[in-house]
Amino acid sequence: MKIAVFAGDGIGAEVVAEAVRVLEVLDLPGMELIEGDVGGAAWRKHGHPLPQQTIDIAHAADAILFGSVGDFDCDHLERALRPEQAILGLRKELTLFANLRPATVFKGLEDLTSLRPEVAREIDLLIVRELNGDVYFGEKGTRTLEDGRRQGWDMMSYAEDEVRRIAHVAFRAAQGRSGKLCSVDKANVLETSQLWRDVVIEVAAEYPDVELSHMYVDNAAMQLVKNPGQFDVVVTGNLFGDILSDQASMCVGSIGLLASASLGETQTQYGTKGLYEPIHGSAPDIAGQGKANPMAQILSAAMMLRHSFGLEDQAVRIEAAVASALADGIKGGDLGGSAGTRAIGDAVVSRL
Ligand code: NAD
Ligand code: IPM
Ligand code: MN
Repeated sequence: MKIAVFAGDGIGAEVVAEAVRVLEVLDLPGMELIEGDVGGAAWRKHGHPLPQQTIDIAHAADAILFGSVGDFDCDHLERALRPEQAILGLRKELTLFANLRPATVFKGLEDLTSLRPEVAREIDLLIVRELNGDVYFGEKGTRTLEDGRRQGWDMMSYAEDEVRRIAHVAFRAAQGRSGKLCSVDKANVLETSQLWRDVVIEVAAEYPDVELSHMYVDNAAMQLVKNPGQFDVVVTGNLFGDILSDQASMCVGSIGLLASASLGETQTQYGTKGLYEPIHGSAPDIAGQGKANPMAQILSAAMMLRHSFGLEDQAVRIEAAVASALADGIKGGDLGGSAGTRAIGDAVVSRL
Protein backbone atom coordinates (compact mmCIF):
# COMPACT_ATOMS: atom_id res chain seq x y z
CA MET A 1 0.00 0.00 0.00
CA LYS A 2 2.10 2.86 -1.33
CA ILE A 3 0.83 6.25 -0.16
CA ALA A 4 2.45 9.38 -1.53
CA VAL A 5 2.41 12.19 1.02
CA PHE A 6 2.62 15.69 -0.43
CA ALA A 7 2.27 18.21 2.41
CA GLY A 8 2.87 21.41 0.44
CA ASP A 9 2.67 24.92 1.86
CA GLY A 10 1.33 26.84 4.85
CA ILE A 11 -0.82 24.72 7.15
CA GLY A 12 -0.40 21.76 4.76
CA ALA A 13 2.50 20.26 6.72
CA GLU A 14 0.76 20.89 10.05
CA VAL A 15 -2.47 19.10 9.16
CA VAL A 16 -0.82 16.33 7.15
CA ALA A 17 1.33 15.46 10.18
CA GLU A 18 -1.84 14.74 12.17
CA ALA A 19 -3.38 12.65 9.39
CA VAL A 20 -0.17 10.64 9.15
CA ARG A 21 -0.24 10.02 12.91
CA VAL A 22 -3.78 8.71 12.54
CA LEU A 23 -2.72 6.36 9.74
CA GLU A 24 0.25 5.13 11.74
CA VAL A 25 -1.89 4.38 14.79
CA LEU A 26 -4.05 2.10 12.64
CA ASP A 27 -0.92 0.03 12.01
CA LEU A 28 -2.05 -1.16 8.59
CA PRO A 29 0.04 -4.04 7.30
CA GLY A 30 2.16 -3.13 4.29
CA MET A 31 1.54 0.61 4.45
CA GLU A 32 4.42 2.63 3.04
CA LEU A 33 4.52 6.44 3.06
CA ILE A 34 6.61 8.24 0.42
CA GLU A 35 7.05 11.99 0.80
CA GLY A 36 7.32 14.39 -2.11
CA ASP A 37 7.66 18.14 -2.65
CA VAL A 38 4.82 20.24 -4.11
CA GLY A 39 3.83 23.89 -4.35
CA GLY A 40 5.86 26.86 -3.24
CA ALA A 41 8.03 24.56 -1.13
CA ALA A 42 8.93 22.56 -4.23
CA TRP A 43 9.53 25.71 -6.27
CA ARG A 44 12.02 26.95 -3.67
CA LYS A 45 13.85 23.63 -3.59
CA HIS A 46 13.66 22.51 -7.21
CA GLY A 47 12.56 25.59 -9.17
CA HIS A 48 9.19 24.03 -10.05
CA PRO A 49 5.94 23.53 -8.07
CA LEU A 50 5.51 20.00 -9.47
CA PRO A 51 8.98 18.55 -10.08
CA GLN A 52 9.42 15.41 -12.15
CA GLN A 53 10.44 13.34 -9.11
CA THR A 54 7.11 14.22 -7.46
CA ILE A 55 5.21 13.19 -10.58
CA ASP A 56 7.14 9.91 -10.55
CA ILE A 57 6.22 9.29 -6.90
CA ALA A 58 2.56 10.03 -7.73
CA HIS A 59 2.58 7.55 -10.60
CA ALA A 60 4.18 4.82 -8.49
CA ALA A 61 1.76 5.30 -5.56
CA ASP A 62 -1.62 3.64 -5.01
CA ALA A 63 -2.97 6.84 -3.44
CA ILE A 64 -1.85 10.37 -2.68
CA LEU A 65 -2.48 12.22 0.54
CA PHE A 66 -2.23 15.88 -0.36
CA GLY A 67 -2.08 18.84 2.05
CA SER A 68 -2.40 22.23 0.43
CA VAL A 69 -0.43 24.53 -1.82
CA GLY A 70 -0.37 28.29 -2.10
CA ASP A 71 2.01 30.97 -1.03
CA PHE A 72 1.29 34.64 -1.55
CA ASP A 73 5.05 35.25 -1.97
CA CYS A 74 4.78 33.30 -5.23
CA ASP A 75 1.96 35.37 -6.70
CA HIS A 76 4.43 37.34 -8.84
CA LEU A 77 5.65 34.21 -10.64
CA GLU A 78 4.50 33.34 -14.12
CA ARG A 79 1.43 31.11 -13.87
CA ALA A 80 3.23 27.90 -14.82
CA LEU A 81 5.47 28.25 -11.75
CA ARG A 82 2.80 29.14 -9.19
CA PRO A 83 2.18 26.70 -6.31
CA GLU A 84 -1.41 25.97 -7.42
CA GLN A 85 -0.05 24.37 -10.58
CA ALA A 86 1.05 21.43 -8.44
CA ILE A 87 -2.48 20.37 -7.58
CA LEU A 88 -3.89 21.30 -10.99
CA GLY A 89 -1.03 19.39 -12.63
CA LEU A 90 -1.54 16.25 -10.53
CA ARG A 91 -5.30 16.22 -11.19
CA LYS A 92 -4.62 16.43 -14.92
CA GLU A 93 -1.56 14.15 -15.05
CA LEU A 94 -3.43 11.35 -13.24
CA THR A 95 -6.78 12.06 -14.96
CA LEU A 96 -8.49 12.55 -11.61
CA PHE A 97 -11.69 13.97 -13.05
CA ALA A 98 -14.16 13.23 -10.26
CA ASN A 99 -13.89 15.21 -7.05
CA LEU A 100 -16.16 14.03 -4.24
CA ARG A 101 -16.80 16.61 -1.54
CA PRO A 102 -19.20 15.37 1.14
CA ALA A 103 -20.77 17.80 3.63
CA THR A 104 -22.69 16.62 6.68
CA VAL A 105 -23.34 18.23 10.03
CA PHE A 106 -21.55 16.55 12.90
CA LYS A 107 -23.52 16.04 16.07
CA GLY A 108 -22.90 18.92 18.42
CA LEU A 109 -22.09 21.41 15.67
CA GLU A 110 -25.68 22.28 14.71
CA ASP A 111 -25.44 25.55 16.64
CA LEU A 112 -22.02 26.47 15.27
CA THR A 113 -22.67 26.76 11.55
CA SER A 114 -23.48 29.93 9.63
CA LEU A 115 -27.09 28.75 9.37
CA ARG A 116 -29.89 28.42 11.88
CA PRO A 117 -29.60 25.05 13.65
CA GLU A 118 -32.91 23.74 12.31
CA VAL A 119 -31.70 24.46 8.76
CA ALA A 120 -28.16 23.15 9.26
CA ARG A 121 -29.36 19.94 10.91
CA GLU A 122 -30.79 18.70 7.60
CA ILE A 123 -27.52 18.80 5.64
CA ASP A 124 -26.21 15.56 4.24
CA LEU A 125 -24.99 16.17 0.73
CA LEU A 126 -22.26 15.20 -1.68
CA ILE A 127 -20.88 17.59 -4.25
CA VAL A 128 -19.50 15.76 -7.28
CA ARG A 129 -17.24 18.32 -8.91
CA GLU A 130 -15.74 17.79 -12.35
CA LEU A 131 -12.00 18.34 -12.01
CA ASN A 132 -10.26 18.09 -15.38
CA GLY A 133 -12.05 20.61 -17.56
CA ASP A 134 -14.02 23.85 -17.63
CA VAL A 135 -12.55 27.34 -17.55
CA TYR A 136 -9.70 25.98 -15.40
CA PHE A 137 -8.00 24.18 -18.28
CA GLY A 138 -9.06 26.16 -21.35
CA GLU A 139 -6.83 28.40 -23.36
CA LYS A 140 -5.99 31.52 -21.39
CA GLY A 141 -3.93 34.61 -21.73
CA THR A 142 -3.53 38.34 -21.52
CA ARG A 143 -2.85 40.80 -24.27
CA THR A 144 -2.90 44.49 -25.00
CA LEU A 145 -5.59 45.56 -27.43
CA GLU A 146 -4.93 47.99 -30.27
CA ASP A 147 -6.33 50.87 -28.24
CA GLY A 148 -3.94 50.06 -25.41
CA ARG A 149 -6.41 48.43 -23.03
CA ARG A 150 -5.21 45.21 -21.38
CA GLN A 151 -7.40 42.14 -21.70
CA GLY A 152 -7.38 38.77 -19.97
CA TRP A 153 -9.29 35.66 -21.05
CA ASP A 154 -9.95 32.08 -20.02
CA MET A 155 -11.83 29.78 -22.31
CA MET A 156 -14.66 27.78 -20.74
CA SER A 157 -15.49 24.52 -22.47
CA TYR A 158 -16.57 20.94 -21.91
CA ALA A 159 -16.43 18.13 -24.42
CA GLU A 160 -19.32 15.67 -24.21
CA ASP A 161 -17.19 12.74 -23.07
CA GLU A 162 -15.91 14.84 -20.17
CA VAL A 163 -19.48 15.53 -19.07
CA ARG A 164 -20.58 11.94 -19.62
CA ARG A 165 -17.91 10.40 -17.41
CA ILE A 166 -18.57 12.72 -14.47
CA ALA A 167 -22.32 12.24 -14.92
CA HIS A 168 -21.88 8.48 -14.58
CA VAL A 169 -19.93 8.97 -11.34
CA ALA A 170 -22.68 11.20 -10.00
CA PHE A 171 -25.56 8.91 -10.99
CA ARG A 172 -23.80 5.94 -9.40
CA ALA A 173 -23.22 7.99 -6.24
CA ALA A 174 -26.90 8.91 -6.19
CA GLN A 175 -27.85 5.23 -6.52
CA GLY A 176 -25.76 4.53 -3.43
CA ARG A 177 -27.44 7.32 -1.50
CA SER A 178 -31.03 8.56 -1.63
CA GLY A 179 -31.45 8.32 -5.42
CA LYS A 180 -31.65 12.07 -5.98
CA LEU A 181 -29.27 13.96 -8.25
CA CYS A 182 -29.26 17.71 -8.89
CA SER A 183 -27.16 18.96 -11.80
CA VAL A 184 -26.05 22.57 -11.35
CA ASP A 185 -25.22 24.71 -14.36
CA LYS A 186 -25.80 28.09 -16.01
CA ALA A 187 -27.55 26.81 -19.12
CA ASN A 188 -29.66 29.96 -19.39
CA VAL A 189 -26.53 31.87 -20.41
CA LEU A 190 -23.62 29.55 -21.22
CA GLU A 191 -23.30 27.20 -24.21
CA THR A 192 -20.90 25.08 -22.14
CA SER A 193 -23.69 24.60 -19.61
CA GLN A 194 -26.33 23.81 -22.25
CA LEU A 195 -24.16 20.99 -23.54
CA TRP A 196 -23.56 19.90 -19.94
CA ARG A 197 -27.30 19.74 -19.32
CA ASP A 198 -28.05 17.92 -22.60
CA VAL A 199 -25.44 15.25 -21.88
CA VAL A 200 -26.55 14.78 -18.26
CA ILE A 201 -30.10 14.21 -19.52
CA GLU A 202 -28.81 11.64 -22.05
CA VAL A 203 -26.90 9.77 -19.34
CA ALA A 204 -29.99 9.84 -17.09
CA ALA A 205 -31.69 7.37 -19.46
CA GLU A 206 -29.32 4.71 -18.09
CA TYR A 207 -30.35 5.43 -14.50
CA PRO A 208 -34.17 5.28 -14.37
CA ASP A 209 -33.97 4.75 -10.60
CA VAL A 210 -32.37 8.16 -10.04
CA GLU A 211 -34.51 11.28 -9.86
CA LEU A 212 -32.66 13.99 -11.82
CA SER A 213 -33.25 17.72 -11.40
CA HIS A 214 -31.46 20.79 -12.75
CA MET A 215 -30.72 24.08 -11.09
CA TYR A 216 -28.97 27.27 -12.18
CA VAL A 217 -25.86 27.93 -10.14
CA ASP A 218 -26.99 31.29 -8.80
CA ASN A 219 -30.18 29.73 -7.47
CA ALA A 220 -28.17 26.79 -6.13
CA ALA A 221 -25.99 29.17 -4.11
CA MET A 222 -29.15 30.66 -2.63
CA GLN A 223 -30.90 27.32 -2.02
CA LEU A 224 -27.77 25.98 -0.32
CA VAL A 225 -28.30 28.43 2.54
CA LYS A 226 -32.10 28.58 2.36
CA ASN A 227 -32.88 24.88 2.36
CA PRO A 228 -29.73 22.74 2.08
CA GLY A 229 -31.65 19.66 3.19
CA GLN A 230 -33.22 19.44 -0.28
CA PHE A 231 -29.87 18.37 -1.79
CA ASP A 232 -28.44 14.91 -1.82
CA VAL A 233 -25.95 14.46 -4.68
CA VAL A 234 -25.04 17.61 -6.60
CA VAL A 235 -23.05 17.31 -9.84
CA THR A 236 -21.45 20.37 -11.34
CA GLY A 237 -18.51 21.74 -13.28
CA ASN A 238 -15.09 22.59 -12.01
CA LEU A 239 -15.57 26.28 -11.20
CA PHE A 240 -19.10 26.11 -9.80
CA GLY A 241 -18.12 23.09 -7.70
CA ASP A 242 -15.13 24.92 -6.28
CA ILE A 243 -17.26 27.83 -5.13
CA LEU A 244 -20.28 25.88 -3.90
CA SER A 245 -18.15 23.52 -1.83
CA ASP A 246 -16.50 26.34 0.12
CA GLN A 247 -19.99 27.69 0.72
CA ALA A 248 -21.24 24.26 1.82
CA SER A 249 -18.40 24.06 4.33
CA MET A 250 -19.72 27.00 6.31
CA CYS A 251 -23.19 25.50 6.21
CA VAL A 252 -21.80 22.62 8.29
CA GLY A 253 -19.51 24.69 10.48
CA SER A 254 -16.06 25.19 9.00
CA ILE A 255 -13.88 24.76 5.98
CA GLY A 256 -11.58 22.88 8.34
CA LEU A 257 -14.01 19.95 8.24
CA LEU A 258 -14.48 19.28 4.54
CA ALA A 259 -12.51 16.43 3.00
CA SER A 260 -12.32 15.37 -0.61
CA ALA A 261 -11.45 12.47 -2.86
CA SER A 262 -10.28 13.01 -6.43
CA LEU A 263 -10.76 9.88 -8.49
CA GLY A 264 -10.26 8.67 -12.03
CA GLU A 265 -10.55 5.29 -13.65
CA THR A 266 -7.19 3.77 -12.65
CA GLN A 267 -7.57 0.62 -10.60
CA THR A 268 -4.78 -0.69 -8.40
CA GLN A 269 -4.69 -4.08 -6.71
CA TYR A 270 -6.43 -2.43 -3.73
CA GLY A 271 -9.04 -0.10 -5.21
CA THR A 272 -9.37 3.10 -7.21
CA LYS A 273 -6.28 5.25 -7.40
CA GLY A 274 -7.01 8.68 -5.96
CA LEU A 275 -5.76 11.89 -4.44
CA TYR A 276 -7.15 12.97 -1.08
CA GLU A 277 -7.06 16.51 0.21
CA PRO A 278 -9.06 18.91 2.34
CA ILE A 279 -11.02 21.46 0.32
CA HIS A 280 -9.24 24.31 2.08
CA GLY A 281 -5.99 25.93 1.10
CA SER A 282 -2.70 26.74 2.80
CA ALA A 283 -4.34 29.35 5.09
CA PRO A 284 -1.34 31.73 5.21
CA ASP A 285 -3.11 33.82 7.85
CA ILE A 286 -2.81 31.07 10.47
CA ALA A 287 0.13 29.05 9.12
CA GLY A 288 2.93 28.22 11.55
CA GLN A 289 0.81 28.92 14.62
CA GLY A 290 -0.45 25.41 15.33
CA LYS A 291 -4.03 26.63 15.02
CA ALA A 292 -5.29 24.87 11.91
CA ASN A 293 -8.04 22.30 12.25
CA PRO A 294 -6.60 19.01 10.91
CA MET A 295 -9.98 17.26 10.77
CA ALA A 296 -10.54 17.86 7.03
CA GLN A 297 -7.14 16.31 6.38
CA ILE A 298 -7.81 13.40 8.72
CA LEU A 299 -11.21 12.81 7.10
CA SER A 300 -9.46 12.89 3.70
CA ALA A 301 -7.24 10.05 4.92
CA ALA A 302 -10.42 8.16 5.84
CA MET A 303 -11.76 8.68 2.32
CA MET A 304 -8.46 7.33 1.01
CA LEU A 305 -8.79 4.13 3.01
CA ARG A 306 -12.35 3.73 1.72
CA HIS A 307 -11.84 4.45 -1.99
CA SER A 308 -8.24 3.49 -2.67
CA PHE A 309 -7.75 0.60 -0.25
CA GLY A 310 -11.20 -0.89 0.29
CA LEU A 311 -10.77 -0.46 4.06
CA GLU A 312 -14.30 0.69 4.82
CA ASP A 313 -14.14 -0.40 8.46
CA GLN A 314 -10.97 1.61 9.09
CA ALA A 315 -12.46 4.64 7.32
CA VAL A 316 -15.53 4.43 9.54
CA ARG A 317 -13.29 4.13 12.60
CA ILE A 318 -11.53 7.39 11.75
CA GLU A 319 -14.79 9.17 10.99
CA ALA A 320 -16.27 7.98 14.27
CA ALA A 321 -13.20 9.18 16.17
CA VAL A 322 -13.51 12.65 14.61
CA ALA A 323 -17.25 12.74 15.35
CA SER A 324 -16.65 11.65 18.92
CA ALA A 325 -13.98 14.33 19.47
CA LEU A 326 -16.36 17.00 18.18
CA ALA A 327 -19.24 15.66 20.26
CA ASP A 328 -16.96 15.89 23.31
CA GLY A 329 -16.31 19.55 22.58
CA ILE A 330 -12.81 19.28 21.06
CA LYS A 331 -12.90 22.23 18.68
CA GLY A 332 -10.40 24.44 16.96
CA GLY A 333 -10.58 28.20 16.63
CA ASP A 334 -12.46 27.79 13.34
CA LEU A 335 -15.38 26.42 15.39
CA GLY A 336 -15.04 28.91 18.23
CA GLY A 337 -13.00 26.52 20.37
CA SER A 338 -9.44 26.66 21.62
CA ALA A 339 -7.93 23.29 20.67
CA GLY A 340 -4.81 23.52 18.53
CA THR A 341 -3.79 21.32 15.63
CA ARG A 342 -1.82 18.88 17.77
CA ALA A 343 -4.49 18.68 20.49
CA ILE A 344 -7.16 17.87 17.92
CA GLY A 345 -4.88 15.20 16.44
CA ASP A 346 -4.33 13.80 19.97
CA ALA A 347 -8.08 13.69 20.57
CA VAL A 348 -8.68 11.72 17.38
CA VAL A 349 -5.73 9.39 17.95
CA SER A 350 -6.78 8.63 21.54
CA ARG A 351 -10.27 7.69 20.35
CA LEU A 352 -8.82 5.18 17.89
P1 NAD B 1 -7.83 29.05 2.46
O1 NAD B 1 -8.74 27.89 2.37
O2 NAD B 1 -6.39 28.74 2.56
O3 NAD B 1 -8.23 29.94 3.73
C1 NAD B 1 -9.47 30.62 3.81
C2 NAD B 1 -9.79 30.95 5.27
O4 NAD B 1 -10.13 29.72 5.95
C3 NAD B 1 -8.61 31.54 6.04
O5 NAD B 1 -9.08 32.48 6.95
C4 NAD B 1 -8.03 30.35 6.76
O6 NAD B 1 -7.37 30.67 7.97
C5 NAD B 1 -9.27 29.49 7.03
N1 NAD B 1 -8.94 28.06 7.07
C6 NAD B 1 -8.66 27.27 6.01
N2 NAD B 1 -8.38 26.03 6.39
C7 NAD B 1 -8.46 26.02 7.74
C8 NAD B 1 -8.29 25.01 8.74
N3 NAD B 1 -7.94 23.74 8.42
N4 NAD B 1 -8.48 25.34 10.03
C9 NAD B 1 -8.84 26.60 10.37
N5 NAD B 1 -9.03 27.58 9.47
C10 NAD B 1 -8.85 27.31 8.18
O7 NAD B 1 -8.13 29.98 1.20
P2 NAD B 1 -7.38 31.32 0.68
O8 NAD B 1 -6.97 32.14 1.83
O9 NAD B 1 -8.26 31.87 -0.34
O10 NAD B 1 -6.11 30.77 -0.06
C11 NAD B 1 -4.82 30.67 0.52
C12 NAD B 1 -3.89 29.95 -0.44
O11 NAD B 1 -4.29 28.58 -0.53
C13 NAD B 1 -3.91 30.50 -1.86
O12 NAD B 1 -2.60 30.49 -2.35
C14 NAD B 1 -4.78 29.53 -2.61
O13 NAD B 1 -4.50 29.45 -3.98
C15 NAD B 1 -4.45 28.24 -1.92
N6 NAD B 1 -5.47 27.17 -2.01
C16 NAD B 1 -5.00 25.90 -2.19
C17 NAD B 1 -5.87 24.83 -2.19
C18 NAD B 1 -5.32 23.47 -2.40
O14 NAD B 1 -4.14 23.23 -2.17
N7 NAD B 1 -6.10 22.50 -2.83
C19 NAD B 1 -7.23 25.05 -1.95
C20 NAD B 1 -7.68 26.37 -1.76
C21 NAD B 1 -6.78 27.43 -1.76
C1 IPM C 1 -9.56 23.68 -4.39
C2 IPM C 1 -8.69 24.87 -4.66
C3 IPM C 1 -8.02 24.74 -6.01
C4 IPM C 1 -9.11 24.75 -7.07
C5 IPM C 1 -6.94 25.78 -6.37
C6 IPM C 1 -5.91 25.90 -5.31
C7 IPM C 1 -6.31 25.47 -7.68
O1 IPM C 1 -9.40 26.05 -4.53
O2 IPM C 1 -9.06 22.55 -4.45
O3 IPM C 1 -10.73 23.85 -4.08
O4 IPM C 1 -9.58 25.83 -7.47
O5 IPM C 1 -9.51 23.67 -7.51
MN1 MN D 1 -11.36 25.77 -3.67
